[in-house]
Parts: sequence; structure tokens; C-alpha cells
Amino acid sequence: MGNEERAKPKFIVLLGAPGAGKGTQAAYLEERLGIPHISSGDLFRENLRNETELGRLARAYMDRGELVPDEVTIAMVKERLAQPDCAGGAILDGFPRTIAQAQALEAILAEKGQRVGIVPYIKVSDEVLLARLAGRWTCRQCEAIYHELFSPPKVAGRCDVCGGELYQRADDTPETQRRRIEVYFQQTTPLIEYYRRQGLLVEIDGEQSVEQVRADLLAAIQQADC
Ligand code: AP5
Ligand code: MG
Ligand code: ZN
Repeated sequence: MGNEERAKPKFIVLLGAPGAGKGTQAAYLEERLGIPHISSGDLFRENLRNETELGRLARAYMDRGELVPDEVTIAMVKERLAQPDCAGGAILDGFPRTIAQAQALEAILAEKGQRVGIVPYIKVSDEVLLARLAGRWTCRQCEAIYHELFSPPKVAGRCDVCGGELYQRADDTPETQRRRIEVYFQQTTPLIEYYRRQGLLVEIDGEQSVEQVRADLLAAIQQADC
């Protein structure tokens, strides 16, 4: 097979409010496209679990529903993107979340001659976001995502994938959920226009079933041929 036939690296940025379904869809896309799912939130939670210095720093912000400062967030994602499994691309979930992060991502990829290929924006109304966050359960071991009504596990409290214990995230209290959504509107929605201007944004109706959202995402990614 010639070089030109080899798959191009795919860097996909999933945009969407807290509870829009970024993590849910990224898990499917990772399996389907064979490129890693990189969630900045999961990376911070891993640091929390391992009680690293970064984890301690991030906790204060996460518990309040605020953004962790750009500098540390960018450094963490940069290190992750430098891993060999990202050579063929990655699905970025929850990063970038500010214009400064988006510019940093461009610079990180440009150093390797790469670029963002598509930015699917998973659009969901506020009422639906809150209902989704309120019923979410996450696996402590593998971060698989469930919902007590919309996608319940086969056995209550246990992960279908790995048998791990399901828990509710510390930042899923009603007060912190509302704050996260506010912070999203203040600091992250400017990215919608930012990527629209670059011709990379594709809007996806996130209020459909998980399966339909997945189908629309795959179609958009295939069409973009990024
Ligand atoms: P992060 O972990 O990224 O949280 P978030 O952005 O608030 O998003 P969520 O993970 O809550 O939602 P999601 O879109 O992944 O939805 P999910 O698939 O779970 O960030 C946490 C914190 O870390 C931040 O607040 C910040 O402090 C810090 N942080 C992270 N990144 C940062 C950055 N770049 N810069 C600075 N700070 C950063 O779905 C939600 C629920 O809905 C689930 O129960 C699921 O089962 C259900 N569901 C999903 N899709 C559907 C559907 N189609 N129909 C019905 N139910 C559905
Ligand atoms: Mg998530
Ligand atoms: Zn699990």
C-alpha cells in the first residue's frame, strides 16, 4: 500500500456542554475508528485517584465546577498527545475549552505537521443536560458511562464492561452541575464560532438516541474525510 493510501491522522474535537454525551460518544468512536479517546476530565480524575500534585490542584477547581487553569491543562494534554498511540489521531473530549486552549492545540499539532480535522458540536438543551447529569453513573475502574434511566447497566451498581463499581461523580451535585453549565456558556461557547469560521464545525442533534447521535457523528466524520 502506497503512502497516499494510508489513513490520514484524524484529530476530532468533540464540543458540547456538560452532559451533552461527549464521553458516551467518544467511547464508541474510539472503538470504531481505532484512535484513542482523550478526555481532559478523565485525565484529571486519574490524577485525583493517584493523588498526584496535579490532581490536588485540579480538585479545587473541579469541585466548584470551574475550569482548571489553561497552563496546567494544556501541559497535561500536550504530554498525552505526545504518546505514540496518538500518531494516527485522537478523539478529544472536553479539550479545548477556551480559545487559548484551542490555539495551543493548533500549535501542538502543527509541530507534528498535523491539524484538527473536524469539530462535531453535540447540541443539547439545558433541561436535557440537567436530566442527563442527574442520572449519570460512571465506572470507577474504566470510566464507562451509564444513566439510571437512559442507559442502565445490566446489574445495578456494576459496570457491564469490567464489573467495576459504579459511582456518581463528585461534581454531579445540582449546584456544581449548574455552575459547570454556566462556565461552559461563558468560556467554551466562543469556540463554536471559532471553529465555524475555520469551516470545521458540524452541528449534531444531541437530543436523539445514543445510537442516532453515533450514526450522525460517524457520517459527519466520514464526509469530512479528515
Ligand atoms: P469533564 O469530565 O469534561 O466534564 P463535562 O465537560 O462537564 O462533561 P461531562 O463529562 O459531564 O459530560 P459528557 O458530555 O461527557 O456527557 P456523558 O457522555 O457523560 O470535566 C470535568 C471538570 O474537569 C471540569 O468541570 C473542569 O473543572 C475540569 N476540566 C476538564 N477539562 C478541562 C479543560 N479543558 N480545561 C479546564 N478544565 C477542565 O453523558 C451524560 C449522561 O447522559 C450519561 O449518564 C449518559 O449515559 C447520558 N447520555 C449520553 N448521551 C445520551 C443520549 N443521546 N440520550 C440519553 N442519554 C444520554
Ligand atoms: Mg465526559
Ligand atoms: Zn468498567
